[in-house]
Amino acid sequence: MLNSPMKVLATLSVLFSSLATCASVAGQRVLVVDEVGSQEKYSQFFNDLKDRGYDLVFESPKSTSLSLFQRGERIYDHAILLPPSSKAYGPNLTPQTLVKFINSSGNILLLINPSSVPETTRDFAREMDIFLPPKDYAITDHYIFDRSSARENHDTLIVRSPQGSPDQKSYFSTTFPVIWKGTGFTIGNSPLVNPILKGARGSYVYDTKEDAVYTDDPWAVGAQINLVAAVQARNNARLTVVGSDVVFTDEFFDKEVTAADGYGLRSGNREFARKLVSWTFQETGVLRVDKIEHGRVGFSERNEGIYRVKNDLEYTVTLSEHTPVGWKPYVAPPEDRVQLEFTMLDPHYRLNLNQTEPGVYHASFKAPDRHGIFSFRLNYKRPFVSYIDEKQTITLRHFAHDEYTRSWAISGAWVWLAGIVVTIAGWGLFVVGWLWCEETSGVKKKGKKLL
Ligand SMILES: *[C@@H]1O[C@H](CO)[C@@H](O)[C@H](O)[C@H]1NC(C)=O
Ligand SMILES: *[C@@H]1O[C@H](CO)[C@@H](O)[C@H](O)[C@H]1NC(C)=O
Repeated sequence: MLNSPMKVLATLSVLFSSLATCASVAGQRVLVVDEVGSQEKYSQFFNDLKDRGYDLVFESPKSTSLSLFQRGERIYDHAILLPPSSKAYGPNLTPQTLVKFINSSGNILLLINPSSVPETTRDFAREMDIFLPPKDYAITDHYIFDRSSARENHDTLIVRSPQGSPDQKSYFSTTFPVIWKGTGFTIGNSPLVNPILKGARGSYVYDTKEDAVYTDDPWAVGAQINLVAAVQARNNARLTVVGSDVVFTDEFFDKEVTAADGYGLRSGNREFARKLVSWTFQETGVLRVDKIEHGRVGFSERNEGIYRVKNDLEYTVTLSEHTPVGWKPYVAPPEDRVQLEFTMLDPHYRLNLNQTEPGVYHASFKAPDRHGIFSFRLNYKRPFVSYIDEKQTITLRHFAHDEYTRSWAISGAWVWLAGIVVTIAGWGLFVVGWLWCEETSGVKKKGKKLL
């Protein structure tokens, strides 16, 4: 009896902690499609996920209970697909199902084993504009390989993690380099696909079965090669493709390598895996519009639906970004610009917003001399951050009849106004003068006659 309230409390606290600690904005239900034994191989990787509040469900690719949907509803928020040992993922994970999962805002992390790429994986990747190499093609580099495991084929590479650039956010930088063993793939021109980890200049992908490490006909070379790439669909769902299935294992998390200068290096794989999953499962790089305000400069009314042509307008938007510890103001990279479009069919203005305080972007401008239905449009689409497309529609009206400048206030009209005044005055003088002259002469004449 005594410990039943305690039990309730404990259950509640577990419930709340799991609600409060899940770092993702998209949810915590994760399906892991794996083979027997992978939980031991990837134990640190999965423990990191559990520590961040994810509920992992492990299913074998062949299992009949494996399903991403139930009665048409998505039952997982995220999926991790480890390579199957057999040729395919089975009938429950067709490329169409995976596309449908992404279309209904599910996120996928896909790991690839170079020596057995199922045809379904290949089809699915192709659908996303990602082109996987043929079976048994691996990446090598004769400059930046690990000297301590130096075998002829130099298959363990030391890859610098991506640093941010002045115009692009990067959520994947690590203290130590990523130790890579696997393959690389190429990507198409789709603006939705972005490389995360690329091959170094000296690397190439070749056919390991040909037994020619010094091949003169590689499948892909240098910066063509992507080791890890990401797709962010138009609905902001994310897919990350990793060209290796071993880089996230305990073995590679704990590995030490020797660089060309003889120094030992620790592995940055664990940090990289954490950051990659964070991004894929929408903990990082998710933007939110907190507030949009527009109005006339110098007036306190906000978000009126109607303005006049040539009004001085101002526009303010507040943006936040999700991080593993909560929402923070979004500060765009220094060489990136958050822009406002003032549009009627086409943008009449496209203005760079000024950041007045962290996360608050502001513009002021004069409305064009054109009446009609306009909108304030914030169209911000950048790699690795979720897309923003916000539109506020307003009316620009003509001057009202009493809003035109009075004609006496226009200096150009003074000549004509003066003309009118002079004409009236002249006519008045003339009439007065004419009458006066007539009368005096008449009176004088009459007076003379009378006298
Ligand atoms: C994706 O979802 C939209 C509606 O949300 C639907 O109209 C479209 O047909 C779906 N596409 C696929 C390929 O499932
Ligand atoms: C941004 O600030 C600069 C300098 O204060 C100003 O000249 C410019 O007009 C501002 N831009 C907008 C769109 O308000």
